[in-house]
Amino acid sequence: MSPTNTQPMLRDNALAGKTIIVTGGGTGLGRAMTTYFLQLGANVTITSRKLEVLEATAAELRQQTGGKVLAVACDVRKYEAVEAMIARTYEEFGRVDVLLNNAAGNFISPTERLSHKAFDVIVDIVLKGSYNCTLAVGKRWIAEQQPGTILNIVTTYASVGSAFVVPSAAAKAGVLALTRSLAVEWAKYGIRSNAIAPGPFPTEGAWSRLFPEPLASQLDPAASVPLKRVGQYQELANLAAYLVSDFSAYVNGEVVTIDGGEWLNGAGEFNKLGALTPAMWDQIEKTMRR
Ligand code: HXC
Ligand code: NAP
Repeated sequence: MSPTNTQPMLRDNALAGKTIIVTGGGTGLGRAMTTYFLQLGANVTITSRKLEVLEATAAELRQQTGGKVLAVACDVRKYEAVEAMIARTYEEFGRVDVLLNNAAGNFISPTERLSHKAFDVIVDIVLKGSYNCTLAVGKRWIAEQQPGTILNIVTTYASVGSAFVVPSAAAKAGVLALTRSLAVEWAKYGIRSNAIAPGPFPTEGAWSRLFPEPLASQLDPAASVPLKRVGQYQELANLAAYLVSDFSAYVNGEVVTIDGGEWLNGAGEFNKLGALTPAMWDQIEKTMRR
């Protein structure tokens, strides 16, 4: 297994004075990134549908980090709710500097088994949710002549597609297009847009929907990763903190993959030859040279 480095990367107070909105911030990766942003001195609004989950997370993170975290219930599919969540953040913290579009919905299924509502629900959370938040925050920044930073959490299959998660793949591809398009269009307002494409990082939310039993006992998510392990939350949090900080001020329109090489492993024609033993290579070389 490859080494990990789960040390916090940025210096103390690297995000002091910044207010960050994290959608889906009450659980999983959103919670992990929020924790690190708070440790670095940011104020954070966490938002999702379930207020009790958000409030429990906020209380624990206040205790753990001493940071300021506001829990606001909001369904990102509803534009008015998004506007209200942003207004509440301005009321509490006086500003918004960063939008982290992290909320998502997903589950595995053969596409032909999906109802049109099942397709809608995923696309609405992922793509509509991201553009609702982006539009509502962006309009404010532009009107107030404030610079801002948008970070979108996509997936490696946003670029290449994936069977059995087709609504998610289509929606994440849309979010990637949003990222790259606005990186150009809104740069003149001082608004940067970037994305992170994570590979497998075990979370309750993702694993219960993507690796349910009996799949979980038959399929090791680390097996297809050249580094032979899944990601650690702090590795993602370090990257996210860099991309929302001013240290990345010249990074715009980028999608950074953090997957241990997984998607390339699936892509390369001959990558599967990694399974061959030295004895098999001896045999092959002998045959070829003959
Ligand atoms: C087929 C399904 C289904 C399933 C729901 N539906 N689950 N169809 N297979 N497993 C259908 C329902 O029958 C319904 O259609 C429609 O989808 C809406 O379902 P609801 O349960 O009413 O929706 P809702 O309560 O809003 O829940 C949304 C959800 C749920 C997406 C279905 O799973 C959720 O709340 N997810 C949020 C968190 C999440 O998904 N996290 C994982 C992100 S992981 P009908 O026609 O019957 O009305 C991720 C990682 C990617 O993105 C990369 C990993 C490497
Ligand atoms: P998660 O814990 O299930 O996170 C998803 C979050 O989205 C939840 O907090 C959920 O909260 C929120 N959400 C769902 N629908 C919403 C809505 N309509 N409005 C507002 N919030 C909503 O799963 P995760 O693994 O941490 O995923 C976080 C992000 O990482 C997602 O974008 C996912 O696609 C991405 N990702 C994860 C992995 C991985 O391996 N874990 C890999 C690649 C990409 P509520 O239910 O309270 O609304």
